[in-house]
Amino acid sequence: MLTKKIELILNEQIAKEGYSSNLYLAMASWAETEGYAGVAQWLYAQSAEELMHMMKFIHFINERGGKAIIPAFDQPPTKFEGIKKLFDQVLEHERFISASINAIVAHSIKENDFATHNWIQWFVTEQVEEEASVQAIIDKLKLLGDSNVYMFDRDIMSLRGAGK
Ligand code: FEO
Repeated sequence: MLTKKIELILNEQIAKEGYSSNLYLAMASWAETEGYAGVAQWLYAQSAEELMHMMKFIHFINERGGKAIIPAFDQPPTKFEGIKKLFDQVLEHERFISASINAIVAHSIKENDFATHNWIQWFVTEQVEEEASVQAIIDKLKLLGDSNVYMFDRDIMSLRGAGK
């Protein structure tokens, strides 16, 4: 059984994961219209991952005797200032999500909720992987430089989504 505090922060995470999915969807759609097919493919896949993360929170809350609340999501931006800045934004967002997951870990310890503590570890690992894969993309972009964005776009097609 979840305490009210844990139920509340898990519900807040539903909103964050749902927003992440929409943010990456907005980025994917922008990249697609700008002609970056590879980047768009990566972001669409990432958006689907975030949707799966949100579903995990919904099911867990309900299974543990709480009530998952599906919120309205803020509208993500519609324009982005190029590929490099876009991935910087993705990394910044993933760091924000990691901090949020860490806060859930801390609260679960404080509330002696070891079931949630155990369950949330999957997300701790996931965030390490997501940050690392976005950082690797940023490093690659730096290496290739602005003149090789086309090559980068082809290259990213061979990468799997950040959460895999
Ligand atoms: Fe679900 Fe990328 O955090």
